[in-house]
Amino acid sequence: MKSKSTVILLFIFFLLTSKNLSPQSAKTIEQRVDSVLALMTQEEKIGQLVQFTGDWDTGTHSTEPKAGKRELVSEGKIGSFLNIFGADMTRGLQKIAVEKSRLKIPLIFGLDVIHGFRTTFPVPIAEASSWEPALVEKSARMQAIEVSASGINWTFNPMVDIARDPRWGRIVEGSGEDPVLGAAMAVARVKGYQGNDLSANNTIAACLKHFAGYGGAEGGRDYNTVDFSERTFREVYLKPFKAAVDAGAATLMASFNEIGGVPSSANHQLLTKILRDEWKFDGFVVSDWNSIGELIPHGVARDLKQAAELALNAGLDMDMESNAYTKHLSELLAEGKVSGKTLDESVRRILRIKFRLGLFDDPFKYCDAEREKKTILSKEMKDAAHEVATKAIVLLKNENGFLPLNKETKKIAVIGPLANSTADPLGPWNQQGDAKDVVSVLQGIKNKCGDKAKILYEEGCSIAGKETDGFGKAIQAAKEADVVVLVVGESLDMSGEARARATLDLPGVQEELAKEIYKTGKPIVAVLMNGRPLTINWLNEHAAAILETWFLGIRTGDAIADVLFGDVNPSGKLPVTFPKYVGQVPMYYNHKNTGRPYDPKNNYTSYYADYDNSPLYPFGYGLSYTKFVYDDLKLSSKKISKTESLKISIEVKNNGSYDGEEVVQLYIRDLVGSVTRPVKELKSFQKIFLKKDETKKVEFTLTDEDLKFYNLDMNFVSEPGMFKVFVGTNSVECLEDEFELIN
Ligand code: BGC
Repeated sequence: MKSKSTVILLFIFFLLTSKNLSPQSAKTIEQRVDSVLALMTQEEKIGQLVQFTGDWDTGTHSTEPKAGKRELVSEGKIGSFLNIFGADMTRGLQKIAVEKSRLKIPLIFGLDVIHGFRTTFPVPIAEASSWEPALVEKSARMQAIEVSASGINWTFNPMVDIARDPRWGRIVEGSGEDPVLGAAMAVARVKGYQGNDLSANNTIAACLKHFAGYGGAEGGRDYNTVDFSERTFREVYLKPFKAAVDAGAATLMASFNEIGGVPSSANHQLLTKILRDEWKFDGFVVSDWNSIGELIPHGVARDLKQAAELALNAGLDMDMESNAYTKHLSELLAEGKVSGKTLDESVRRILRIKFRLGLFDDPFKYCDAEREKKTILSKEMKDAAHEVATKAIVLLKNENGFLPLNKETKKIAVIGPLANSTADPLGPWNQQGDAKDVVSVLQGIKNKCGDKAKILYEEGCSIAGKETDGFGKAIQAAKEADVVVLVVGESLDMSGEARARATLDLPGVQEELAKEIYKTGKPIVAVLMNGRPLTINWLNEHAAAILETWFLGIRTGDAIADVLFGDVNPSGKLPVTFPKYVGQVPMYYNHKNTGRPYDPKNNYTSYYADYDNSPLYPFGYGLSYTKFVYDDLKLSSKKISKTESLKISIEVKNNGSYDGEEVVQLYIRDLVGSVTRPVKELKSFQKIFLKKDETKKVEFTLTDEDLKFYNLDMNFVSEPGMFKVFVGTNSVECLEDEFELIN
């Protein structure tokens, strides 16, 4: 029999959680969170901090929970699942949570929706190449609409790790090397996933990952040690996190790596001091997969129990798959090693997000099989994937305006191991993408040309194998054709998690194949498909044109054909530097000058004795079929005080023969500081459309905020002195001027 006080409490709970009485105001949410918390047993509280995967990792890719997990849900011992989706499957589990468990607290379902659920969009680094936050927001919005129809209310994305080392396989999952571009993309994705109303049935919680510094792995080797100064950490690596927290991101994921000896999952400075105390983040932090358990091999915890203690006390709220909280929190609480207050705070954060998602009001709103059927892979989704793909393509070379191809071209040889691939264009971390939905490059070209052109296809070689027996047929096809479209690069599983590479060359014999084709004298249009910058010096010298397409998702072939034949004028820009040699990395445009910057006349300066210092393609680089001319850079003043803003304008003219889009980029350099500053820092960018012969004046505003950095005393301030301003088409080709900041 229930005691009288329990009945009263349950009644209050009902009032506070019932739909009609509860507008989603911050105040009522906090009251409702407290009302639930007040009813919870210690066991139920621990349960909220526990997340388990479905059967996915056993290789079956089933969406079922593992044996025994349903029972744990009914006992209130699980707060969240990952890798379980489907309107019916999630409804079934949610029903157990809200009908069988004592307090009826709904589950939150997380999934890695990195670039799409069933409809695969371009990989994140490709989307970042659009330099178009509104487009990236739209893509995230569409992905949220699709996956939320399949029971999911939380994505483990965006990955906002800055990556300056292309050996690191996860560079593909982020937005490249720059903190300002990275922050813009991070904010766009958060807005897209979460929409204006997190409690709507088609918005989902975002998860910023991997907090933090994960992209700084030494040698580019995944999971490796990270060690950089607090200044670099805050100015470069934390910047996108901060921007996205300010934009309202609901959750974060702690990273696998250590920084300066402290693994993130045990890092109180990071998870509590910076994130909560400084940034006022009030959502929750989930661990990465077993990252609490990994505190043992890291060497900061002697066993799983100590790992649980370190993690919870650091501010890590939810345990993904390590069993540390399930197994040890009760004991740690009894021993006073973890306080009830700390536990409550973590539970509170998780409940808060569940309330904000509206899960208490309607736990089944994501579980609508009808909606799921209508939404998944709908025409609207596929069209959006196509649009985003066309904007993600970067034109790296176009000798004498070789592209676009003439639509009257009679014979086209489409050659290469990725030309007819329908699996690889899905890229790493494609969620439920299916190769059968993918338009290959070959198919895209065929669709575009219809029967106007003869298309000859040869694979030539495999992606990574050493066999050259396919060369003969490929050479023959090239000889017969007017032009060769050569599709080369990496397979979908050569980048992504645990996919570091020690070389950046085209794998296998692909470059040899290109060399043989070149000998036929037929012009080569190289189409690159890859998850990281590659060292493609030979192609850069010999191909007539090169398109960087990354992995573009299901509409790969359509988007590439649009660009090849000029229906779309490419407008992408590189979000990351392409080195010439792997020995140059880490290589990034916003480096420091050093005390001995490279000087060809002086031997004792900073350079490589065997090769030069310059990149193959700089950050921000990307060509167009038309020509943009920059002129008339103007500053509103040569001197500004800290309270004034500086207006910068430039005229951009489309001087070529096509309409087109251009990303106008603004960089600064702080010439003298109390600490050294980068040789260039991106501060703003605008994507503009110009018709043929049109000229536009582009205006930027710089404020004191843009000039701030962590000074000698680690205060975030600007310092008076001279600044350079650069405006241009990439991080190298700019017009420049100077101004002075006075007190
Ligand atoms: C990855 C995360 C991912 C998680 C859950 C981990 O291995 O590092 O990025 O969200 O798995 O799938």
